Amino acid sequence: MLKLGNFSSIIVANWKLNGNMEFINQYYQKLVLNPNNCVVICSPSIFLNKLEINNKNLFSGAQDVSIYQEGAFTGELSAKMLDDIKIQFSLVGHSERRQYFNESNEIINLKSKNLIENNVIPIICIGETLEEKENNKTNEVLKKQIKESIPVSSNYENTIIAYEPIWAIGTGLTPSLDEIEEVHKFIKTVNVKLNNYKVLYGGSVKASNSDDINSLNNVDGCLVGGASLKVDEFNSIIS
Ligand code: 13P
Repeated sequence: MLKLGNFSSIIVANWKLNGNMEFINQYYQKLVLNPNNCVVICSPSIFLNKLEINNKNLFSGAQDVSIYQEGAFTGELSAKMLDDIKIQFSLVGHSERRQYFNESNEIINLKSKNLIENNVIPIICIGETLEEKENNKTNEVLKKQIKESIPVSSNYENTIIAYEPIWAIGTGLTPSLDEIEEVHKFIKTVNVKLNNYKVLYGGSVKASNSDDINSLNNVDGCLVGGASLKVDEFNSIIS
Protein backbone atom coordinates (compact mmCIF):
# COMPACT_ATOMS: atom_id res chain seq x y z
CA MET A 1 0.00 0.00 0.00
CA LEU A 2 1.13 3.52 -0.78
CA LYS A 3 2.86 5.39 2.10
CA LEU A 4 0.61 8.36 2.76
CA GLY A 5 3.14 9.87 5.17
CA ASN A 6 5.46 10.63 2.22
CA PHE A 7 3.24 13.49 1.06
CA SER A 8 2.77 16.89 2.65
CA SER A 9 -0.63 17.27 1.04
CA ILE A 10 -3.18 15.04 -0.70
CA ILE A 11 -5.31 16.66 -3.38
CA VAL A 12 -8.19 14.57 -4.70
CA ALA A 13 -10.25 15.43 -7.78
CA ASN A 14 -13.78 14.07 -7.84
CA TRP A 15 -15.00 14.32 -11.41
CA LYS A 16 -18.38 12.83 -10.46
CA LEU A 17 -20.40 11.93 -13.60
CA ASN A 18 -18.31 14.03 -15.99
CA GLY A 19 -15.59 13.50 -18.58
CA ASN A 20 -14.95 11.76 -21.89
CA MET A 21 -11.83 10.55 -23.70
CA GLU A 22 -11.14 13.88 -25.40
CA PHE A 23 -11.44 15.71 -22.07
CA ILE A 24 -9.10 13.20 -20.42
CA ASN A 25 -6.44 13.45 -23.12
CA GLN A 26 -6.35 17.23 -22.95
CA TYR A 27 -6.48 17.21 -19.14
CA TYR A 28 -3.50 14.89 -18.72
CA GLN A 29 -1.46 16.84 -21.27
CA LYS A 30 -1.96 20.00 -19.25
CA LEU A 31 -1.77 18.63 -15.70
CA VAL A 32 1.25 19.97 -13.78
CA LEU A 33 2.25 18.00 -10.68
CA ASN A 34 3.90 19.19 -7.49
CA PRO A 35 6.59 16.80 -6.16
CA ASN A 36 5.46 17.25 -2.53
CA ASN A 37 1.82 16.45 -3.16
CA CYS A 38 -0.16 13.33 -3.88
CA VAL A 39 -2.77 13.95 -6.57
CA VAL A 40 -5.62 11.48 -7.01
CA ILE A 41 -8.05 11.72 -9.92
CA CYS A 42 -11.35 9.97 -9.19
CA SER A 43 -12.91 9.50 -12.60
CA PRO A 44 -16.03 7.56 -13.62
CA SER A 45 -15.06 3.90 -13.42
CA ILE A 46 -15.21 3.27 -17.16
CA PHE A 47 -12.15 5.52 -17.62
CA LEU A 48 -10.04 4.13 -14.76
CA ASN A 49 -8.07 1.87 -17.02
CA LYS A 50 -7.39 4.70 -19.47
CA LEU A 51 -5.85 7.11 -17.01
CA GLU A 52 -2.20 7.47 -16.23
CA ILE A 53 -1.91 5.66 -12.90
CA ASN A 54 0.69 5.28 -10.23
CA ASN A 55 3.11 7.90 -11.29
CA LYS A 56 5.14 8.95 -8.21
CA ASN A 57 2.68 11.74 -7.42
CA LEU A 58 -0.33 11.02 -9.58
CA PHE A 59 -2.85 8.27 -8.92
CA SER A 60 -6.28 7.22 -10.03
CA GLY A 61 -9.17 6.57 -7.71
CA ALA A 62 -12.63 5.08 -8.03
CA GLN A 63 -15.71 7.00 -6.87
CA ASP A 64 -17.39 3.96 -5.33
CA VAL A 65 -17.05 0.21 -4.91
CA SER A 66 -19.38 -2.73 -4.35
CA ILE A 67 -20.13 -4.19 -0.93
CA TYR A 68 -19.83 -7.59 -2.61
CA GLN A 69 -16.61 -9.47 -3.34
CA GLU A 70 -17.83 -11.34 -6.44
CA GLY A 71 -20.79 -13.23 -7.84
CA ALA A 72 -24.18 -12.54 -9.38
CA PHE A 73 -24.36 -8.78 -8.74
CA THR A 74 -24.91 -7.21 -12.16
CA GLY A 75 -23.35 -3.78 -12.64
CA GLU A 76 -21.06 -3.93 -9.62
CA LEU A 77 -17.30 -3.34 -9.37
CA SER A 78 -15.33 -5.05 -6.59
CA ALA A 79 -12.42 -3.87 -4.47
CA LYS A 80 -10.42 -6.80 -5.76
CA MET A 81 -10.96 -5.66 -9.35
CA LEU A 82 -9.72 -2.17 -8.46
CA ASP A 83 -6.60 -3.69 -6.95
CA ASP A 84 -6.19 -5.90 -9.99
CA ILE A 85 -5.88 -2.86 -12.28
CA LYS A 86 -3.61 -1.16 -9.69
CA ILE A 87 -6.07 1.44 -8.44
CA GLN A 88 -4.92 2.57 -5.00
CA PHE A 89 -7.79 4.81 -3.82
CA SER A 90 -11.57 4.87 -3.76
CA LEU A 91 -14.03 7.43 -2.45
CA VAL A 92 -16.59 5.86 -0.14
CA GLY A 93 -19.79 7.30 1.29
CA HIS A 94 -19.78 10.56 -0.64
CA SER A 95 -22.87 12.54 0.44
CA GLU A 96 -24.32 12.11 -3.07
CA ARG A 97 -24.11 8.32 -2.59
CA ARG A 98 -25.62 8.64 0.88
CA GLN A 99 -28.42 10.89 -0.42
CA TYR A 100 -29.31 9.47 -3.85
CA PHE A 101 -28.35 5.82 -3.37
CA ASN A 102 -29.37 5.37 0.27
CA GLU A 103 -25.93 4.42 1.49
CA SER A 104 -25.85 3.94 5.24
CA ASN A 105 -22.85 4.08 7.56
CA GLU A 106 -23.00 0.26 7.73
CA ILE A 107 -22.68 -0.05 3.94
CA ILE A 108 -19.83 2.45 3.93
CA ASN A 109 -18.10 0.47 6.68
CA LEU A 110 -18.36 -2.74 4.67
CA LYS A 111 -17.12 -1.12 1.45
CA SER A 112 -14.17 0.42 3.30
CA LYS A 113 -13.34 -2.92 4.90
CA ASN A 114 -13.34 -4.62 1.49
CA LEU A 115 -11.08 -1.93 0.07
CA ILE A 116 -8.57 -2.18 2.92
CA GLU A 117 -8.47 -5.97 2.57
CA ASN A 118 -7.56 -5.45 -1.09
CA ASN A 119 -4.89 -2.79 -0.50
CA VAL A 120 -7.01 0.06 -1.81
CA ILE A 121 -7.16 3.17 0.40
CA PRO A 122 -10.75 4.26 1.16
CA ILE A 123 -11.36 8.01 1.28
CA ILE A 124 -14.31 7.95 3.66
CA CYS A 125 -16.55 11.02 3.33
CA ILE A 126 -18.42 12.50 6.26
CA GLY A 127 -20.28 15.78 6.72
CA GLU A 128 -23.34 17.49 8.14
CA THR A 129 -26.37 19.07 6.46
CA LEU A 130 -27.13 22.78 6.83
CA GLU A 131 -29.98 21.97 9.20
CA GLU A 132 -27.69 19.89 11.39
CA LYS A 133 -25.12 22.70 11.42
CA GLU A 134 -27.73 25.30 12.33
CA ASN A 135 -28.90 23.10 15.19
CA ASN A 136 -25.32 22.75 16.48
CA LYS A 137 -25.35 19.04 15.69
CA THR A 138 -22.18 18.96 13.55
CA ASN A 139 -19.95 17.20 16.09
CA GLU A 140 -22.64 14.71 17.06
CA VAL A 141 -23.33 13.83 13.40
CA LEU A 142 -19.64 13.49 12.54
CA LYS A 143 -18.96 11.35 15.60
CA LYS A 144 -21.73 8.92 14.65
CA GLN A 145 -20.56 8.76 11.02
CA ILE A 146 -16.99 8.13 12.18
CA LYS A 147 -17.98 5.49 14.72
CA GLU A 148 -20.20 3.57 12.33
CA SER A 149 -18.51 3.95 8.96
CA ILE A 150 -14.83 3.46 9.77
CA PRO A 151 -14.03 -0.27 9.95
CA VAL A 152 -12.03 -1.87 12.76
CA SER A 153 -9.25 -2.76 10.29
CA SER A 154 -8.74 0.91 9.43
CA ASN A 155 -5.66 2.87 10.53
CA TYR A 156 -3.90 6.11 9.57
CA GLU A 157 -1.82 4.36 6.94
CA ASN A 158 -4.65 2.62 5.07
CA THR A 159 -7.53 5.10 5.32
CA ILE A 160 -8.20 8.79 4.59
CA ILE A 161 -11.12 10.80 5.96
CA ALA A 162 -12.71 13.60 3.93
CA TYR A 163 -14.81 16.19 5.74
CA GLU A 164 -17.36 17.61 3.31
CA PRO A 165 -20.12 19.75 4.81
CA ILE A 166 -23.05 18.90 2.55
CA TRP A 167 -24.21 22.52 2.40
CA ALA A 168 -20.81 23.55 1.02
CA ILE A 169 -20.83 21.11 -1.90
CA GLY A 170 -21.34 22.88 -5.23
CA THR A 171 -22.77 25.99 -3.55
CA GLY A 172 -19.79 28.34 -3.44
CA LEU A 173 -20.25 28.48 0.34
CA THR A 174 -17.59 27.26 2.77
CA PRO A 175 -17.25 27.24 6.53
CA SER A 176 -14.91 29.93 7.87
CA LEU A 177 -11.25 28.95 8.15
CA ASP A 178 -11.61 28.80 11.93
CA GLU A 179 -14.59 26.48 11.60
CA ILE A 180 -12.72 24.15 9.23
CA GLU A 181 -9.75 24.03 11.56
CA GLU A 182 -11.95 23.36 14.56
CA VAL A 183 -13.92 20.56 12.87
CA HIS A 184 -10.74 18.86 11.63
CA LYS A 185 -9.30 19.02 15.12
CA PHE A 186 -12.50 17.52 16.45
CA ILE A 187 -12.37 14.66 13.90
CA LYS A 188 -8.78 13.82 14.83
CA THR A 189 -9.65 13.68 18.52
CA VAL A 190 -12.90 11.69 18.37
CA ASN A 191 -10.69 8.81 19.49
CA VAL A 192 -6.95 8.33 19.95
CA LYS A 193 -6.71 6.12 16.90
CA LEU A 194 -7.69 9.03 14.65
CA ASN A 195 -4.88 11.37 15.80
CA ASN A 196 -2.64 10.63 12.85
CA TYR A 197 -5.26 10.16 10.14
CA LYS A 198 -5.06 12.35 7.06
CA VAL A 199 -8.22 14.48 7.01
CA LEU A 200 -9.09 16.30 3.78
CA TYR A 201 -11.51 19.20 3.41
CA GLY A 202 -14.06 19.25 0.57
CA GLY A 203 -16.86 21.62 -0.44
CA SER A 204 -16.44 24.57 -2.85
CA VAL A 205 -12.64 24.38 -2.86
CA LYS A 206 -11.25 26.51 -5.69
CA ALA A 207 -8.00 28.17 -6.69
CA SER A 208 -8.87 31.30 -4.72
CA ASN A 209 -9.37 29.56 -1.34
CA SER A 210 -7.31 26.37 -1.56
CA ASP A 211 -4.05 27.85 -0.22
CA ASP A 212 -5.75 29.24 2.87
CA ILE A 213 -7.61 25.99 3.52
CA ASN A 214 -4.61 23.74 2.88
CA SER A 215 -2.36 25.70 5.18
CA LEU A 216 -4.66 25.20 8.19
CA ASN A 217 -3.54 22.98 11.04
CA ASN A 218 -5.06 19.52 10.83
CA VAL A 219 -6.00 19.95 7.14
CA ASP A 220 -4.00 17.41 5.14
CA GLY A 221 -5.31 18.26 1.70
CA CYS A 222 -8.57 18.73 -0.11
CA LEU A 223 -11.26 16.99 -2.13
CA VAL A 224 -12.25 19.07 -5.13
CA GLY A 225 -15.40 18.70 -7.23
CA GLY A 226 -16.33 21.36 -9.79
CA ALA A 227 -12.96 23.13 -9.80
CA SER A 228 -11.18 19.85 -10.59
CA LEU A 229 -12.88 19.77 -14.01
CA LYS A 230 -10.98 22.87 -15.10
CA VAL A 231 -7.39 21.73 -15.44
CA ASP A 232 -5.85 25.22 -15.21
CA GLU A 233 -7.69 25.89 -11.98
CA PHE A 234 -6.85 22.43 -10.64
CA ASN A 235 -3.16 23.04 -11.49
CA SER A 236 -3.21 26.12 -9.39
CA ILE A 237 -4.82 24.20 -6.50
CA ILE A 238 -2.11 21.50 -6.75
CA SER A 239 0.71 24.00 -6.88
P1 13P B 1 -17.46 21.02 -5.15
O1 13P B 1 -15.97 21.22 -5.06
O2 13P B 1 -18.01 21.18 -6.52
O3 13P B 1 -18.18 21.81 -4.11
O4 13P B 1 -17.73 19.47 -4.79
C1 13P B 1 -17.17 18.95 -3.65
C2 13P B 1 -17.30 17.49 -3.70
O5 13P B 1 -18.39 16.96 -3.63
C3 13P B 1 -16.08 16.70 -3.87
O6 13P B 1 -16.29 15.37 -3.56
